[in-house]
Amino acid sequence: MKPKVFVCRQIPEEGLRVIRDFYEVEVWDRYSPPPREVLLEKVREVDALVTLLTDKIDKEVLDSAQRLRIIAQYAVGFDNIDVSYATLKGVYVTNTPGVLTDATADLTWALLLAAARRIVEADRFVRSGDYWRTGTGWHPLMMLGYHVTGKTLGIIGMGRIGQAVARRAKGFEMRVLYYQRRKLAESLERELNAKYVDLETLLRESDFVSIHVPLTKETFRMIGEKELRIMKPTAILINTSRGAVVDEEALVKALKEGWIAAAGLDVFEKEPLPPEHPLTKLDNVVLAPHVGSATLETRASMAKLVAENLIAFYKGEEPPTLVNKEVVKVRAPGFN
Ligand code: GLV
Ligand code: GLV
Repeated sequence: MKPKVFVCRQIPEEGLRVIRDFYEVEVWDRYSPPPREVLLEKVREVDALVTLLTDKIDKEVLDSAQRLRIIAQYAVGFDNIDVSYATLKGVYVTNTPGVLTDATADLTWALLLAAARRIVEADRFVRSGDYWRTGTGWHPLMMLGYHVTGKTLGIIGMGRIGQAVARRAKGFEMRVLYYQRRKLAESLERELNAKYVDLETLLRESDFVSIHVPLTKETFRMIGEKELRIMKPTAILINTSRGAVVDEEALVKALKEGWIAAAGLDVFEKEPLPPEHPLTKLDNVVLAPHVGSATLETRASMAKLVAENLIAFYKGEEPPTLVNKEVVKVRAPGFN
């Protein structure tokens, strides 16, 4: 008999097709996540789960899961999963790193350029008829934004995505600063043309600050009032990581009161962002609905990587992108 996998949402067929050769697959086909009761019920009877960042896999869920051996997360971030508890219970956790690096770096640049050059505001200006009502096609002072080429970009979190963002900065002839716990090897710094600095220096000197850290206890609200006040009044903050890395209330204040110039945000503390949220009332912020990895190619690659992880596990092999490597000592991979 094939092991059972519950897939918490419709993912691209490129992955599902392959998984079906090895697993009995049940897909939750509604648009919204399986409700808590459903998840708690499903998890009792399955051997594997495919989860999204909107599916909270905590102690209660893991305790209900008698046969569960592997959680294949369809995302690079896994802050929705209690990984240390999963490890304790011998449950393998995998994610989808690498395949979404370029898409997320591209979106970071889309938000950076859109915020700097006021693209979304300009689009509204044209559509609303306000442009028409000015009575002129061109004015020297119309919709002035911030220069990008040659400016300083500060990258917080220089992992795969941070590095991909830095590589793209070369085309804009930018000076790149970065901050994270550990300094990169000098050869890599040279290749990226990036300089290691402390967080305060990065915030003080950067024209653009882009966040690429995972959400952990250490990074929770690491950018708050104090940090925003250090930034230049002309600086632009970009966040394509996790909303809770930034103190949103402080950010709203910073954008309203001009401590910083603008922001481009793909992620929020609470998703979906409610339409009455104060961020939606501000012109100097560009908003996106958590679409960093949302290209056809990338989402298909993520599905294939989820399948590779599940299949390797099925064959008794270590999954290629295993998050909790220590789990191998608790239980060998496979369903026997
Ligand atoms: C998306 O946010 C991801 O972590 O892949
Ligand atoms: C602008 O359109 C210019 O020609 O300078």
